[in-house]
Amino acid sequence: MGAHSHVLIFPLPLQGPINSMLKLAEMLCLRQIKVTFIITQHIQRRLFDSSTIQTYMTTKYGDAFSFQAIPDGLPEEHPRTIREFSELLGSLSAVAPLILHQTVSVWEISCIVAEGILSFATDIATQIGVPLFYFDTCSASALWAIMCLPQLIQAGELPFKDDNLDEIIRNAPGMEGVMRRRDLPSFCRDINLEDLEVKLLLKQARLMPLSQGIILNTFHQLDAPLLSHMLKLFPNIYAIGPLHALLQTQASQNSSSSILPEDMSCISWLDKQPSQSVVYVSIGSLALMTKDQFLEFWFGLVNSGMRFLLVQRPGSVAGLDDGIPVELLEATRERGYVVSWVPQQEVLDHPAVGGFLSHCGWNSILESLVAGKPMICWPHHFDQQVNSRYVGEVWKVGLDMKDSCDRVVVEKMVREVMELRKDEFLKRARKLSEAARGSVGEGGSSAKDLDRFIDDIKNMMF
Ligand code: UDX
Repeated sequence: MGAHSHVLIFPLPLQGPINSMLKLAEMLCLRQIKVTFIITQHIQRRLFDSSTIQTYMTTKYGDAFSFQAIPDGLPEEHPRTIREFSELLGSLSAVAPLILHQTVSVWEISCIVAEGILSFATDIATQIGVPLFYFDTCSASALWAIMCLPQLIQAGELPFKDDNLDEIIRNAPGMEGVMRRRDLPSFCRDINLEDLEVKLLLKQARLMPLSQGIILNTFHQLDAPLLSHMLKLFPNIYAIGPLHALLQTQASQNSSSSILPEDMSCISWLDKQPSQSVVYVSIGSLALMTKDQFLEFWFGLVNSGMRFLLVQRPGSVAGLDDGIPVELLEATRERGYVVSWVPQQEVLDHPAVGGFLSHCGWNSILESLVAGKPMICWPHHFDQQVNSRYVGEVWKVGLDMKDSCDRVVVEKMVREVMELRKDEFLKRARKLSEAARGSVGEGGSSAKDLDRFIDDIKNMMF
């Protein structure tokens, strides 16, 4: 029974979800559970071309871990950026079920762990007769907003009846007084109930409560009020976050699942900067900016007078090749550093970093919380609109600049977080950092939930 447990993990083929699921996979392998990790052939090419994840995982876990690549159904030349996310999701949902069913029906599997939106996993688990756990790698608040979609539609709050994005949301229990229309996941703004993505999200809201359990990358102290509402719908929740910190305590070392090569020169640059003087700026692995937006950020940073470390991910800013104003380049030489990709956890942990201007992807928020760094939020898409509201209004560890991209606002918010209200934000951020670290330490709530999850898997018959 236990010694032969074998878990099939199926993440969304995107950097953020893959990061989270790989961490879960490592924790299972560390407890002698075999993992098969499903990736798309496109991701496999990127992983194997540009990083050492494959070598790292197989060296560390041997036969206990393996990747299984499947086609995503899109042509090779398809860009697969966040703009075409619906196409990727639709195509994957169409081709994956048959291939997976054929592949896994001949294996002995204890259970499946799939990303919440991959609702076809319900059919596969039913067909091969194994339990299914959904792991929603975004925040608990974003998942809850999705679970509330049916009642928001039924109550007539969605689609919005007018353009007033400041209207308060009334039919999301547990989020009263917090959410405005502009804080719902971004697709809600022009929601079309006939869109494939929306249909898949509604299917997710219907099927997730029927699964064996829900895994969340959060910790009890952070999301206690929400979790108590969620428990009414999902009686079996494993809150095992922040995953990167939990893995660190379980494996006594950092793991790396970065898809892009990291430029380590930023650490030597940070080493030369005074304590808490640098604002770190990154929009994650998927978000895209226009040249004008990027320049507004850059000007805002320069005008704030602060030191800054700016990530300009290859391909993230359209048309930036020429025309960068000379004053920006000069100011950057004095007190800034621009790189293509950084080892983010190391950067956030660095004593020179005093704040994080972020797109509010869930991994970035958790990494910032654990490092105890206040945030300035510029949410870009999907769950990030919800996440930034929680950063600004619920946890109060930063400021939300949602829906504006203006150098004056950037300058003002950077000054507030890094100077004027620094103590207030730092105090709360440090408190949450302590809570996060406590949850993954011995006897902490996340460590206990992980133990419970592993016991539950090992007790499963197949
Ligand atoms: C995606 C979705 O867009 C997001 O809304 C969802 O919450 C998770 O998946 P992504 O852009 O990948 O987000 O952001 P995030 O979740 O923050 O993950 C980015 C990861 O890349 C982090 O783990 C971060 O440490 C890493 N990163 C980022 C680097 O390693 N180096 C960098 O320079 C920037």
